[in-house]
Amino acid sequence: MSTTEPNRAESAVVARALTKTYGTGAATVHALAGVDVAIASGEFTAIMGPSGSGKSTLMHLLAGLDEPTSGDVWLAGKWLSQISDKEATLLRRERVGFVFQSFNLLPMYTALQNILLPLELAGTKPDQDWLDQLVALLHIEDRLTHLPSELSGGQQQRVAIARALITRPDVIFADEPTGNLDSRSGSEVLSFLRTSVRELGRTVIMVTHDPIAAAHASRVLLIADGRIAGEIENPTPEAISTSLDMLRTDEVA
Ligand SMILES: Nc1ncnc2c1ncn2[C@@H]1O[C@H](COP(=O)(O)OP(=O)(O)OP(=O)(O)O)[C@@H](O)[C@H]1O
Ligand SMILES: [Mg+2]
Repeated sequence: MSTTEPNRAESAVVARALTKTYGTGAATVHALAGVDVAIASGEFTAIMGPSGSGKSTLMHLLAGLDEPTSGDVWLAGKWLSQISDKEATLLRRERVGFVFQSFNLLPMYTALQNILLPLELAGTKPDQDWLDQLVALLHIEDRLTHLPSELSGGQQQRVAIARALITRPDVIFADEPTGNLDSRSGSEVLSFLRTSVRELGRTVIMVTHDPIAAAHASRVLLIADGRIAGEIENPTPEAISTSLDMLRTDEVA
């Protein structure tokens, strides 16, 4: 395992020779086949690539939600292989926010209770101004007393985003956060994520299939077959679409 600090002291997240293998024998899947990447603190990074290329697997490993088969992850100033499970739990709870493809809202809790859950776990009180800001921005003011089963998919997604941001995490991981939203809510969420980076100094790492969504980021990482296949600085939707087309062509070839 790695013992030295990453070269880029300003890196929020670093992956070194990261691999993840699922299954055994004939059913073996190399979801990640050796990923080296450094994500700068205070940047908005998008991760793109074909379905099954390893994007969600990479996000789970970078966020410390799952363990790699080999390699190591540097997150919020620590190599995850070198800290205890308890330390890792605290680090995730206090420094990291997640918005994932499945919303994972607790069905017996109201929207508001779901949003406040991370604070409850940490034993801290909500900052009412921040809660009000999040709820207004995400347009869920009149849904706070509802159960998840009484909310649309898009509303559940917005509750999950508020829950991810309520602790004001340093690093926010978002796996297709706008996948279930209409275009207006989607672009509001994206501009909110961008504001979190530009004005609040957060680090955002987002998986998306949408070139227009990815163009909100300052850097796009392309992933194919479990490896980093390229990157685009200051991306435009056109540059992203061209690169994705080339990845697909490579796959067919
Ligand atoms: N728990 C698991 N058990 C077995 N195989 C898995 C598991 N999770 C993912 N995989 C496999 O690993 C590969 C990468 O999956 P992953 O979910 O990371 O892809 P993705 O890029 O996020 O795809 P999508 O765009 O469809 O969300 C796929 O081949 C997938 O089938
Ligand atoms: Mg995925």
